[in-house]
Amino acid sequence: MRVFGRLADGRIVNLYTIQNESGMRAEITDFGARIVRLFVTGRNESQTDVILGFETLGEYAADTSYQGAVVGRVCNRISGANFELNGATYRLAKNENDSTLHGGNVGFDKRLFEAEQISDSIVSMCYVSPDGEEGFPGKLELRVTYTVTDENGLRIDYQAQTDKDTLCNITNHAYFNLSGAGSQSVMDHMISIDADHYNSVNDEYIPTDVASVEGTVMDLRLPKAVCEAFSDAGLPKSPLVLGYDHNFILNSGSPAATVLSPRTGIEMHVFTDSPSMQLYMGNHLDNLPGKNGAVYGKHSALCLEAQIHPDSIHHPEWPSCILRAGSVFTASTEYRFSRKQILKGEL
Ligand code: GAL
Repeated sequence: MRVFGRLADGRIVNLYTIQNESGMRAEITDFGARIVRLFVTGRNESQTDVILGFETLGEYAADTSYQGAVVGRVCNRISGANFELNGATYRLAKNENDSTLHGGNVGFDKRLFEAEQISDSIVSMCYVSPDGEEGFPGKLELRVTYTVTDENGLRIDYQAQTDKDTLCNITNHAYFNLSGAGSQSVMDHMISIDADHYNSVNDEYIPTDVASVEGTVMDLRLPKAVCEAFSDAGLPKSPLVLGYDHNFILNSGSPAATVLSPRTGIEMHVFTDSPSMQLYMGNHLDNLPGKNGAVYGKHSALCLEAQIHPDSIHHPEWPSCILRAGSVFTASTEYRFSRKQILKGEL
């Protein structure tokens, strides 16, 4: 563990390293429980950092793109920035159009967690969100545990409890580029997602319905190069023209998703027990200065945010994000890495 920096109010922020015996290593900060670096073995046994991010705490404190962060109390969008629970109406911050995005004005991505290094490969981060924070009822106690597994995975286990009924939908917003952070766009990455359905959205990215992927650019059931999937040909209308920013409703298959960089041969399998997963392609990244002098542009990474369907509080027929007092929210997602030999002409 080492000091990462100091927040404006003087609180010290640390950086923790976790690793396995084959050299896979993650660096996690207690500021937003964010993944800062994730080194996996690439070609020629070299270590490749596959996560976008920054060198300094100051950049994370100013970040609006949720780099590497734990996102909550409710990730993604709550339409109308309000909801009803047990007969009461709760009004939240409108921090994107008419909606609440990623927990509100100051979400978990900007909170200082209390960290405990459990072993060389495990670090645990806790945050207690007070009753009423960002308008949500109930004191929510969240524990996020990061483990670098023997199978070269980074597993994230979430556990939360509340003292009053509330909403809870937590994810991680890491931006992956399997060619190495800052190298180039992920348009050449191969991707597959085990989903027969996705959430159709309106112009403000609010899910409206459950739609079949069949015959659409949302059909990623067989591996496709991102550029091929995201070709002008089959693209539905705005706002989809920017690139994928959609929630896929997962089938029960395992892994839920697979991504491969043809340059490094690094392959990532995503395993999760969450019902759905948002695929976002960094559509809003715009010349953002990052690690080692890199500049992150549109489509320079992709996020696979395992979650409960967005805006599910307004769709009682979808999996629920209501957390009752006395029950425990759990979710677990693992990003597991391996290296594939790419033969010429194979892709
Ligand atoms: C994603 C979301 C995008 C964008 C991004 C943060 O989870 O789906 O629309 O808000 O976070 O820039």
